[in-house]
Amino acid sequence: MIKTLSLVVIALSISSAVFSVVAQDTPKSAQAAPPARKIPGVTTEDAFPRACVDCHTNHPEMNLDARISSLMKGWNDKVEPALLAKAQASAPSGVTLKGKHPAAAFALKNIPAGCLTCHSKKSTLAPPFAQMLHKIHLTGGEENHFLTAYQGECTHCHKLNLSTGLWSLPSAPEP
Ligand code: HEC
Ligand code: HEC
Ligand code: HEC
Repeated sequence: MIKTLSLVVIALSISSAVFSVVAQDTPKSAQAAPPARKIPGVTTEDAFPRACVDCHTNHPEMNLDARISSLMKGWNDKVEPALLAKAQASAPSGVTLKGKHPAAAFALKNIPAGCLTCHSKKSTLAPPFAQMLHKIHLTGGEENHFLTAYQGECTHCHKLNLSTGLWSLPSAPEP
């Protein structure tokens, strides 16, 4: 039954495709285009206009403190192996990471611009954010909370100015 039905559907869609070629005057609206994909800041509301600091917040109800300052305190002591592996994979060639973050309190006043003073694309000591942040947020498939809970949206970090078409990366202190 399902098979017969899908054959009918295929036959119908073929004939309607042929029909729409023949009948040029079919109204566009009748062709039912799918709605535009919901891209934050592009076709739908941007819930994280200040990027990093708007998403990396404290959630005491879940016992999850994701603030960058809190994470940084952890790295100053010891870096978890999974994170260290991602950082090492994006480190400048020849650099072996120690697994301890240097003191960088000043950078917390402006995230990520403060971080980028050491993590720029030209860095010879620290993993460039242009690599490490994509490695962290966009790899690992179903295991990665950024891909599952936040759909891996580029525009949670990269912001598009809809009038000029310019991309930018916002930077802000933690609230
Ligand atoms: C919309 C939410 C969101 C935004 C925006 C965001 N992140 Fe994340 N970030 C996450 C999630 C979720 C994870 C955990 C990924 C995983 O499951 O491995 C994460 C992980 C990280 C980690 C690794 C933490 C650890 O201990 O393993 C760092 C570092 C990080 N983010 C920095 C940043 C910086 C810097 C920015 C801004 C340029 C940023 N993030 C923007 C959601 C976000
Ligand atoms: C003073 C320079 C400097 C600043 C500023 C800085 N970093 Fe780093 N970062 C480093 C260095 C050097 C490493 C490599 C540490 C190692 O050998 O493990 C590193 C490594 C990391 C790692 C990989 C884990 C680790 O410690 O190895 C993360 C994540 C990270 N930085 C995030 C940040 C964030 C987020 C900021 C801004 C809030 C920041 N960094 C600011 C120098 C800096
Ligand atoms: C968690 C935040 C975050 C997310 C999500 C993110 N980016 Fe980035 N991206 C950055 C940062 C930070 C930089 C480095 C900016 C700098 O070095 O000045 C960057 C740099 C880039 C660059 C420049 C790389 C280079 O080497 O010049 C490209 C291209 C890019 N991102 C594409 C993407 C695409 C495509 C996506 C989505 C699939 C994405 N990014 C998602 C934070 C992010």
